[in-house]
Amino acid sequence: MRIIIAGGHGKIALRLAKLLGAGAAGLVRNPAHLADVEATGAEAVLCDLEKSSVAEVAETLRDADAVVFAAGAGPGSGVARKDTVDRAASVLLADAAERAGVRTFVQISSMGAGKPPAPGSDEVWATYIRAKTEAEEDLRSRDLDWTILRPGRLTDEPGIGLVRLAPEVPPGSVPRDDVAAVIAALLRAPYAGRRTLELVTGDIPIGEAVATR
Ligand SMILES: NC(=O)c1ccc[n+]([C@@H]2O[C@H](COP(=O)([O-])OP(=O)(O)OC[C@H]3O[C@@H](n4cnc5c(N)ncnc54)[C@H](OP(=O)(O)O)[C@@H]3O)[C@@H](O)[C@H]2O)c1
Repeated sequence: MRIIIAGGHGKIALRLAKLLGAGAAGLVRNPAHLADVEATGAEAVLCDLEKSSVAEVAETLRDADAVVFAAGAGPGSGVARKDTVDRAASVLLADAAERAGVRTFVQISSMGAGKPPAPGSDEVWATYIRAKTEAEEDLRSRDLDWTILRPGRLTDEPGIGLVRLAPEVPPGSVPRDDVAAVIAALLRAPYAGRRTLELVTGDIPIGEAVATR
């Protein structure tokens, strides 16, 4: 199974690449990041999602079975890049998936998406939540086999393999290790239909949580 991870040098993306190994390829925008992706055992491909056309991204998806949107503008970014990465790059990747005939699409969104930003939120956070919400809505409108995953607050603590994964869960945090493990399990499991799933640490083993999602 060939799986393309967009935003391939991200913290979740590198963990996922390590779990998937040789079947995976990570798309990175910075040539200096190619070696880190290759060190996971995955292939590394240069592709800047803010500078590439649909045709160029579709070319990177040739012969792929699934694509994962793991990119994000990141904590230091401002309003403009919340839109160009968290919204527009996901839309571009979905356009490219359709063009390349790749039906399986896992989008990393965020808890908080799907609702208006809380009153009093700062402008960058509000733009981020709107960008994630619009990226989700775009994906839901498509004829793709999509799964939208909304993790809670991400941590770099070691994964514990126990989660809550459901359309709605109480706010919480989750280690990036466990987010990557959930995505790997979602990609291996039979497709369960168009699902939006929130994810935080819980008490259900990941395999069971994915099987009963
Ligand atoms: N932080 C949280 O608590 C939280 C909670 C829920 C969901 N999320 C979401 O979870 C996702 C993954 O999180 P993470 O911590 O793994 O993110 P991350 O480490 O910030 O990784 C994001 C990756 O996206 C890449 N990227 C940015 N612009 C790009 C472009 N134009 N073309 C290609 N790649 C580009 C970045 O590349 P560079 O290294 O070159 O910048 C980076 O490697 C993000 O969408 C984030 O919004 C975060």
